[in-house]
Amino acid sequence: METPGISQPSNSQARLPLPTTEKASMATQAMAPLSLPPLPYADNALEPVISAKTLSFHHGKHHRTYVENTNKLIAGTELADLSLDQIVTATAGRADHANIFNNAAQAWNHSFYWHCLKPKGGGEPPTALKQKIEEAFGSVDTCRKELASSAIAQFGSGWAWLVLEGSKLKVVKTANAETPVAQGLRPLLTIDVWEHAYYLDYQNKRADHVNAVIDKLTNWEFAAENLARFAADRL
Ligand SMILES: [Fe+2]
Repeated sequence: METPGISQPSNSQARLPLPTTEKASMATQAMAPLSLPPLPYADNALEPVISAKTLSFHHGKHHRTYVENTNKLIAGTELADLSLDQIVTATAGRADHANIFNNAAQAWNHSFYWHCLKPKGGGEPPTALKQKIEEAFGSVDTCRKELASSAIAQFGSGWAWLVLEGSKLKVVKTANAETPVAQGLRPLLTIDVWEHAYYLDYQNKRADHVNAVIDKLTNWEFAAENLARFAADRL
């Protein structure tokens, strides 16, 4: 089953659960092939954990800039006709394309991230995901703690992720724009720990932000949909 707002390019190497930062109609936006996907909720929907001001800047300024920069950088190149996930995988690890990778990966990471949050989130994951988490971590609580520890421990800007490596769940962290997608891992969930994600609301208290996001905003249903999609890919 396709998740609303998710595209799955048929020739994607990583079979990404990619939200709607995708090719816009060439008829209407011939010079801007990638578009900023709308937030899946209102700016104030995640309050009080994430303020409307933070969400508005994070999405409307930071995410938008990554999308716009990617469009500028790929214009007229061999990358211009690729989907966002293809641009990420094509530029990963290439020093000559570092700037494109950084912007494209950040565009992808943010498109994914918005779906990892929801109003009145948190709580217990759906049964199939819960069982998979218990296989890997022993308990959902241990998984939450590993995710929080990873997010808090990431030195400087970056992301913490719950991913599938092969058929096993694990927690990883990535620096700056790095994304597990470029490492052949399959992301189920992420937390953004760039300062722009929390500084207006929490200043230097990253741990308070991370714990509140995990407890109150985590969209376990989105993670479960990703798990089901990846499982179907292996059939
Ligand atoms: Fe961010």
